[in-house]
Amino acid sequence: MHSYLLIAPAKINLYLEIIGDRPDGFHELVMIMQSITLADRLTIEPSDNQKINLRTNSSAIPADETNLAYRAAKLMCDSFPEVYANYGGVNIAIEKNIPIAAGLGGGSADAAAVLVGINLMWELGLTSPELHELAAQLGSDIPFCISGGTAIATGRGEKLDAIKDLDNLWVVLAKYNGLSVSTPWAYQTYRQKYGDTYARDRAEIKARRAQVHSSPIVSAIIKGQGAEIGKLMRNDLEKVVLPAHPQIDKLRAMFAESGVLGTMMSGSGSTVFALCESEASAISIKDQMRSKISNPELSLWVTQLFTGGVHLGN
Ligand code: C5P
Repeated sequence: MHSYLLIAPAKINLYLEIIGDRPDGFHELVMIMQSITLADRLTIEPSDNQKINLRTNSSAIPADETNLAYRAAKLMCDSFPEVYANYGGVNIAIEKNIPIAAGLGGGSADAAAVLVGINLMWELGLTSPELHELAAQLGSDIPFCISGGTAIATGRGEKLDAIKDLDNLWVVLAKYNGLSVSTPWAYQTYRQKYGDTYARDRAEIKARRAQVHSSPIVSAIIKGQGAEIGKLMRNDLEKVVLPAHPQIDKLRAMFAESGVLGTMMSGSGSTVFALCESEASAISIKDQMRSKISNPELSLWVTQLFTGGVHLGN
């Protein structure tokens, strides 16, 4: 058996609309998810100790059974016990490049890479829908992280409809180290404040979900119109996260002032991203932000939209 190097891209949300409550306690969402080239790198190989062994170069994430990547490996071992017994344990090494608790899906991307890597290593031959079904048991964003590109995500976020992949735009990411937002907190607070606007029944949810396919932002994505996409982006969670975290709000305002195509918080934050039309413009925006904000805790990245999800590296 080989060892496999997997590249696990981060995601941003170009659109995140909260439609209502679900019977399972989650929220019914309509999102447009987009992969970016900023990625973790995972090595997956067989081990002879019949265990899941997780290593990472980051001290900020746990290397134990609470890590989503570990839980992904455990799910594969539990789902295919005979293959697991036959092949032995799994060594997983994570090289972390995606910031943690940032709204960029880093943990989900790692779990997606583990599912894809074990499927290859054990020659299970699972299809994309089969992998997506396993992924959805672990987290709402993990199915998207497997296939990536540009996609409409509905339900909890696990139901995907691919749309024409965007690849012509660049992105600047801005995040304060140590400033993280709890995703359950963001959704709960949203429910407390805006629960009275939620869709009341399945028919209304279905109708609101269907609207996205003919929405102006999807049409702009299909036409590759960066400036339009920038104007039409939406993230409902900003309504609760920005008032609670003025630092995030300020980053967003500074991006907006610097003339980017559009700016938005990703997921539940704390990363704010700015869409730019070229690499040169993204680098210039990053330099401007760095010169305006002297806080050494601010991290900035220039990255690009990416047309795929988890893939093999070399
Ligand atoms: O699925 P995931 O583990 O990423 O979700 C993290 C948290 O975000 C959930 O525990 C829930 O509080 C919230 N969430 C939600 N509705 C969704 C997705 C996430 O309320 N569709």
